[in-house]
Amino acid sequence: MNRSEISISPSLLASDFSKAGEEIASISESGCNHVHLDVMDGIFVPNITFGPKFIKDLKKESDLIFDTHLMIDRPERMIADFIDAGSDIITVHAEATDHLERCLSMIREAGVNAGVAINPGTPVSMLEAVLDEIDYVLVMTVNPGWGGQKFIPSTLKKIRELDMRRAEEGYSYQIEVDGGINSETIKLIYDAGATLAVMGTAFFREENRREYISNLLESL
Ligand code: DX5
Ligand code: ZN
Repeated sequence: MNRSEISISPSLLASDFSKAGEEIASISESGCNHVHLDVMDGIFVPNITFGPKFIKDLKKESDLIFDTHLMIDRPERMIADFIDAGSDIITVHAEATDHLERCLSMIREAGVNAGVAINPGTPVSMLEAVLDEIDYVLVMTVNPGWGGQKFIPSTLKKIRELDMRRAEEGYSYQIEVDGGINSETIKLIYDAGATLAVMGTAFFREENRREYISNLLESL
């Protein structure tokens, strides 16, 4: 299949936070243009990570595209802080808010790219009302909360559905895929139509990240 390009967004979650500056520099050195930042609040998901200050401090050190994934309850309460922190993309979960459209307007009016994420058990139909006003759909291929989990294959049909609808109905969203992506599963999501692949564990366990990424992209 002749597909368009796919980019990798390494997830800082799998890195050593005590060396966050060096870890983010290693993403730039690998040739990737994005960094994926997993914000967890202990309510929408059981785990807790970091907030806007951490992102703002890192942004001073890096030219990467900051891809902020908000796994937080009622994200409308904090969107302004993540805009102020320097996020280039802000993704909220469809399951986390009763005010999805308001969230997207807040993000887009600030000139930031807006994404909506759906958990493995959430259908694409949940996005129906907003498909024409989002820059990214993020398909979760694990249940959110931790890195290092196993890819859930039943999510592939949602990627295909989003890819088909994009072509047939003229939407312009990118399809981002997050969870359990490695050198095997990336082939599956690429063929299904993904354009941005989040990669945590598989990226940070590599010694030579530049070589790993270039071989990976070449293998597709
Ligand atoms: C999971 C996060 C992911 C995670 C992916 O809740 O949204 O971004 O960091 O990590 P891996 O690639 O290890 O599955
Ligand atoms: Zn994520």
